[in-house]
Amino acid sequence: MKKITMIVAMKQEAVPLIEKLGLAQTSDTNPLLPCKAFSGEYKNLSINLVTNGSDSVHGVENVGTQPATLATYEALRLFSPDLIINAGTCGGFSDHGCKIGDVYMGERIRFFDRRIPMGDHYEAYGDSNYPCELAVELAQKLDLPTSIVCTGNSLDMSPTDEAILRQEPLVNKEMEAAAIAWVASHYQMPLVAVKSVTDLMDSEHGTADEFSSNLALASKNLQVEVLRLLDLLAQQSLTQD
Ligand code: ADE
Repeated sequence: MKKITMIVAMKQEAVPLIEKLGLAQTSDTNPLLPCKAFSGEYKNLSINLVTNGSDSVHGVENVGTQPATLATYEALRLFSPDLIINAGTCGGFSDHGCKIGDVYMGERIRFFDRRIPMGDHYEAYGDSNYPCELAVELAQKLDLPTSIVCTGNSLDMSPTDEAILRQEPLVNKEMEAAAIAWVASHYQMPLVAVKSVTDLMDSEHGTADEFSSNLALASKNLQVEVLRLLDLLAQQSLTQD
């Protein structure tokens, strides 16, 4: 049976998937760590979903790259999957054609806020491009658009961030995918990022307000498209078995 592990940062993003797939929480994860694991089966797939959990000091969801790194490491250690799916929400530029609730798959994943101007090698390390050929293939089959998924640790966007993001043709800005890709690369593990737009970074509304208003809608759309992806993977694994 093909094993799929989903890494989802926030509980609010994960709940529609957990409910739709009927996943149950497991006690497999190290209790000292904040991440939480949910498991079940869907068609001929074994599914695990790991969230980053919440911060014990501030009582908020653990968004960002360190929790994503830890959750991915713990997920790979526990579940040894065949494929990782990073399902989450993101910002987009309306002048790139993005609309609230649109769902994209990452054709490439990179950091945009790790600026290390110490020569080409450090600059390239800071950006860390991770091409995702499998995601491009699957997106074509699902008729989903692809984007450059750009990871940083801020929800807002400084002018410097914007200048870097605007060097890419079609951007989804978020806070975890490149950290997940970095961990996955050590295991030579394929990664597919699926991102649903909560906010338009060039709109007149504040990003945090748009994010909060649209989180439920974007998470529902995310669930619908991840289900289509799982259906396709289930079908493919049938013909491969
Ligand atoms: N997640 C959803 N929207 C985002 C944004 N604009 N920036 C970073 N992460 C996000």
